[in-house]
Amino acid sequence: MFYQVYPRSFADSDGDGIGDLRGIRDKLGYLELLGVDALWICPVMRSPMADGGYDVSDPRDIDPLFGGMAAMDELIADAHDRRLKVTMDLVPNHTSDRHPWFAAALAGAPGGRERDRYIFRDGRGLDGAIPPNNWPSIFGGPAWTRVAEADGRPGQWYLHIFAPEQPDLNWANPEVAADFEQTLRFWLDRGVDGFRLDVAHGMAKPDGLPDMERVDTKMLVHDDSDPRFNNPAVHEIHRRIRKVLDEYPDAVSIGEVWVDDNIRFGEYVRPDELHLAFNFRLAETPFSADAVRAAIDNSLAAVAPVGAVPTWTLSNHDIAREVTRYGGGPVGVARARAMMMVELALPGAVFIYNGAELGLPNVDDLPEAVLRDPVWERSGHTERGRDGCRVPIPWEGVAPPFGFTRAESWLPMPPEWAASTVEAQLEELGSTLSLYRMAIELRGVRPEFAGPRIEWYGSPAGCLAFRRPGGLVCVLNASPVPISLPPGDVLLASVAPENGQLPANAAAWLV
Ligand code: GLC
Repeated sequence: MFYQVYPRSFADSDGDGIGDLRGIRDKLGYLELLGVDALWICPVMRSPMADGGYDVSDPRDIDPLFGGMAAMDELIADAHDRRLKVTMDLVPNHTSDRHPWFAAALAGAPGGRERDRYIFRDGRGLDGAIPPNNWPSIFGGPAWTRVAEADGRPGQWYLHIFAPEQPDLNWANPEVAADFEQTLRFWLDRGVDGFRLDVAHGMAKPDGLPDMERVDTKMLVHDDSDPRFNNPAVHEIHRRIRKVLDEYPDAVSIGEVWVDDNIRFGEYVRPDELHLAFNFRLAETPFSADAVRAAIDNSLAAVAPVGAVPTWTLSNHDIAREVTRYGGGPVGVARARAMMMVELALPGAVFIYNGAELGLPNVDDLPEAVLRDPVWERSGHTERGRDGCRVPIPWEGVAPPFGFTRAESWLPMPPEWAASTVEAQLEELGSTLSLYRMAIELRGVRPEFAGPRIEWYGSPAGCLAFRRPGGLVCVLNASPVPISLPPGDVLLASVAPENGQLPANAAAWLV
């Protein structure tokens, strides 16, 4: 069971309004209480924060904003004392434009060694004023930015699939791979237990960088037609990374793999590549029994041929929170609770995004002035971006910033979150936090969760039911009316059944 910490929004220890590593360390007791096994911490390496830390200027140092290296060492030690594993988030596809390599590339000559670590090309057209190809940036605008050469004249273009502050690395250059290996070893030697690898299907670019047929691809979706991702050479890169990880017993890699085709998705988790790959099928699924069942079947089918462990996630720092996706308000919360029970009943690795355990919704009415996601600027203020799922965690008290910070939180927190704080929910048996705690504990200790498979049961229209070989039965009622539960003892339910009836928008576990 992994718990994803978005560090800027988790807990602020030094009063600058932004979460940090000592803040996480202060809350390790909470994570222990919640019952998770491992943390995935979004990037905390040195970064100018053009994309919330996914623009790394030094991959082997911790940004002072998060407390520097000492804070990371303390966090690793304290987490290990509590038997919590620490998973760092590394960004192999690109660096920050403030990385020393990029400064050297700008100062270097076209065709030179310094430029070859990135993807520089001449422009098209008479004076090279047209970008080398038609690729758009995932965050809006073109994926190419033109640089000025030493004589001040407009020169070559560099590729950035994300923001201009995130130049793509050239993984065909052996220096790039060697440096990444050094980064892996650096953190593993400091005690880190594993890595989440950002855009793990993106490092290898197609030969010749051909034009795209469709340039309307949206951010972070399953779109296998996008030629910039999922090129065969990426598997060679994963094999190299795996060789390094194999030198460290128990080190685990989890790749962000937005690949729809099951066979091609499975290729990333072959025994000599990634240990785990994020699967976004459940997170993309509406609250409908048929769609959820298809997503589960699909996810299991994708990893079965290679014998890998399936992964499940309902949300993360890039996706609207599930409460909101399922309709918001009390119905959204009820559905999110039910879907958590479906997720935790499944075999494999589960990833919980911080705040999901509090039933937090997205904050979709953040004032425009506070929006930080580069998508907001790059889309010409037509897309608000992902800040709505990154609002800080409410810990205690009755008014913002709810114990998150002593100062003003970097994104404002809604006053109505007073009812959702950790403090308000911790002792409350019926709270979403309590439901998560009970579900995580049962999943960890009960023998009924054994077995790597599931078996579907017949169920009323709009519902689904499956059984684990160990004997657990999970029932989801996504229909508008109450349904009769199958025989068995109720181990846990998102809403207490009455007279053997499970209400709408609820789930139950039976043994
Ligand atoms: C991944 C991250 C996302 C980031 C992007 C570029 O998709 O999850 O937050 O913006 O990569 O690094």
